[in-house]
Amino acid sequence: MSAKKRIRIAFGLAAVGALTIGLAACSTGDADAGGSDEITTVGFVAVGPEGAWREANEQNIQDTFTEEAGYDLKYAPATNLDQKSQIDAFTSFVDEGVDVILLSATEASGWEDSLKRAQEAEIPVILLDRGIEPDDDSLYVTRIAPDNVEVAKEVGAWAAATFPDGGNYVVLEGPAGVGVVNERNTGFDEGLGDSSLNKVDAQTANWSAEEGKSVFETMLKASNNDIQLVFAQNDEMGLGAAQAAEEAGLVVGEDVKIATIDGTKNAMQALADGQLSYVHEYNPLFGETALEVVEKALAGEDVDSYIVVPSEAFDSAEAAQAVLADRKY
Ligand code: AHR
Repeated sequence: MSAKKRIRIAFGLAAVGALTIGLAACSTGDADAGGSDEITTVGFVAVGPEGAWREANEQNIQDTFTEEAGYDLKYAPATNLDQKSQIDAFTSFVDEGVDVILLSATEASGWEDSLKRAQEAEIPVILLDRGIEPDDDSLYVTRIAPDNVEVAKEVGAWAAATFPDGGNYVVLEGPAGVGVVNERNTGFDEGLGDSSLNKVDAQTANWSAEEGKSVFETMLKASNNDIQLVFAQNDEMGLGAAQAAEEAGLVVGEDVKIATIDGTKNAMQALADGQLSYVHEYNPLFGETALEVVEKALAGEDVDSYIVVPSEAFDSAEAAQAVLADRKY
C-alpha cells in the first residue's frame, strides 16, 4: 500500500450518521429536503459468499445504498471468487453508464484496463476493503478499509509481548494474490520487531475454517506439536486451527495461542470461551462512510486516497464478553 496520506474518520459513527443523513436527504427524492428526485445508480462489483466478514460487509453496503436513500444499487457478486466475472460485471457497469462503481477486488492485480475505461467514461470508482497492485491511486477516488498493515502490526506486537522468550509460530494466510494478505504479513512482521519468535511455516487456508483445521493439523504433525502461536489472517481459519489443536490434545491458551483478524461474532464468542487468544477487529461496517464518500465524489469534492476505518483489538475473554451482547456482526 502506498504511503499515501491517510485520514482517520475523525468523528464517531453518530456524527457520520448525522452528516450522512443530511447529505442523503439532499440527494434523495425527499421533497421535504428540497433535494433533486434523481436516483444515483451504483454498480457494486462485489466478492460474494466468502465468510462471515464478507457477508456483514456486503449486507451493510446494500442496507446503506437503498432506494429510500436515493440509490439504485446493482449488486454483482463474483462467480466462485473468479476475477473474470468481476471484470465482466465492471465492464457492464461502465457500458451501462452507472454513476459510480464500488469495487471489492477478488484479486489485487489486473485492474488497470478496467479502471482506465471507467476513468475515460468519467465514472468514479471507490475501492472497498481490498486494494489494487500496483497501487495507482490516480485510477480510483479512494480506498475505504481498516488499515491492514496497522491491524496486523498490533497483532505482531501482541505476539512479541506475549512470547518474550520466543517460540515457534505459523501463519494461516488468505488466498495468494489477495492484496490484504501481503499487507497483513508486512504488518505482522513489523509488529514482531526483534522478537525471537520463529516462523516455522506459512500456508494459505483460503479464509476457510475447514482448510484452517486441515492445514494446521498437518503443521502440528510436521512439528510434533511444537508450535506455540498461530497467526490466522482471518477468524474462520483461526477457528479451524482451534479445532485442530483440540483434536491434537492441545489446550488453546496454554499449549498454543491463536490470534485472528476480523472480529466476527463467532470469533468473539470463541475468545470469550478461551478457544482463541486474541482477535483484532477489521471493521466491515463502513457503508455510511462509503455513502458519504460517494456524495462527495459526485459533488466533485476532494477525497483523500485512503480512508481508514477504525478497528479495535480484543486480547482477553473479558474484553470479548464486554462487547458480545451488542455485536453487530
Ligand atoms: O479482505 C478482508 C478479508 O476477506 C477478511 O479478513 C476475510 O475474512 C475476508 O474473506
